[in-house]
Amino acid sequence: MTLDTLPTLDARQLERTALVRAFTAPKGFGDQTLRDRRADAIELLGGIPDPAVLPAHELADATARVLAQPGLPALQYSRTEGIPALREWIAAREGVPASRILVTNGGFHGLALAIQTTVERGDLVAVDNPIFPLFLRGLELSDARILPVRVGPHGLDVDELGAVLRGGARPAALYTVPDFHNPTQGSLSLEGRRELVRLAEHYGFVVFADNPYRELRFAGGVPEEEPFNHSERVIHVNTFTKTLGPGLRLGWLVLPESLVPDVVAVRSRQDSHSSTFVQAVVAELLTHDAGLFDATLDRARALYGSRARTLAEAIDREAPGEFEVEVPTGGLFLWPRLRDARVDADRLAADASTEGVEYQRGSFFPSGPGTDADRRLRLAFGDTTEDRLAEAATRLARALRRQRE
Ligand SMILES: Cc1ncc(COP(=O)(O)O)c(C=O)c1O
Repeated sequence: MTLDTLPTLDARQLERTALVRAFTAPKGFGDQTLRDRRADAIELLGGIPDPAVLPAHELADATARVLAQPGLPALQYSRTEGIPALREWIAAREGVPASRILVTNGGFHGLALAIQTTVERGDLVAVDNPIFPLFLRGLELSDARILPVRVGPHGLDVDELGAVLRGGARPAALYTVPDFHNPTQGSLSLEGRRELVRLAEHYGFVVFADNPYRELRFAGGVPEEEPFNHSERVIHVNTFTKTLGPGLRLGWLVLPESLVPDVVAVRSRQDSHSSTFVQAVVAELLTHDAGLFDATLDRARALYGSRARTLAEAIDREAPGEFEVEVPTGGLFLWPRLRDARVDADRLAADASTEGVEYQRGSFFPSGPGTDADRRLRLAFGDTTEDRLAEAATRLARALRRQRE
């Protein structure tokens, strides 16, 4: 074939790889996100932080200072692992050496890197059940098989995991959200974390501990010990999404020392590194005023805690006895359970949409059978005012009454 006989670019068909062809059709995040909705709909759909508690002015000031630096280092290339100032700040907070921190473009990117580095095609991966479904989408990168493990009121059921492992299952990795689980809201105890690490070390799998909600606890301090930061078998995944804003696309991995070169090798074959500029601005924000991050968290915790209580109380008041509601102690979601088995949960979501309230059905979250997720609703309260949350509960109760008529 000569150059003249080559088909033009338009005529040539782009060939997708088998990997891309195997991706499941993008469903959006549940079909609620695609449905037509009322113009005045109250959307309790995503774990979205409220702009009122994101440090916008401080970010503007930090940006100005960064752009005034001689030689403009923030506009240059930087290291794959991340810029030193940010890695050091994160490392001090995590209680690990900076050499173990790799800066990412957010939590989901950190998970993709963890998967690409440690999961072979066709490997078995144990996962939360119910699960944050985006992780399953990420797993398509390695065409893994999944082994669902029950999540109870206190996070992953480590006893069930132990039994499955003793029964012969040999996952390459395990995925869990240890604090203020999405969607179930439970947190894994210190004992549970220690046991999970022990199992990982004994049976030789890697734990992906995905922890975006850790800082959003409504009461009490951060636990003193974090076993996930002290094992060769754990990749601890985190993000600034819920605390400084998802649009920054900035997160980090706490890696076992031995895995750092591998993850750096994978990353250096992709985008090289996260934006130097965004890293520099966030590092400047965090280090210029040492108390700023905690003050930001305090405001966020107070706001979200109050919203969680308001929504729970409003549901009890508007639909008395209909839901089992546990007020979460952190995070951005309520996970109420329908008490009456005769209520059709799918119809309820459709009626709620007609009444003007949108949420994720619990049935969207399971990774396998054996959960009560299909009797649940995931109500995100982070970016909705208390008035609107109360109105949402009124609309939800109205939707329930439609089935009672
Ligand atoms: C459990 C969990 N993991 C990861 C993420 C993704 O975080 P990021 O926006 O930093 O990619 C989210 C965001 O909602 C989440 O809920």
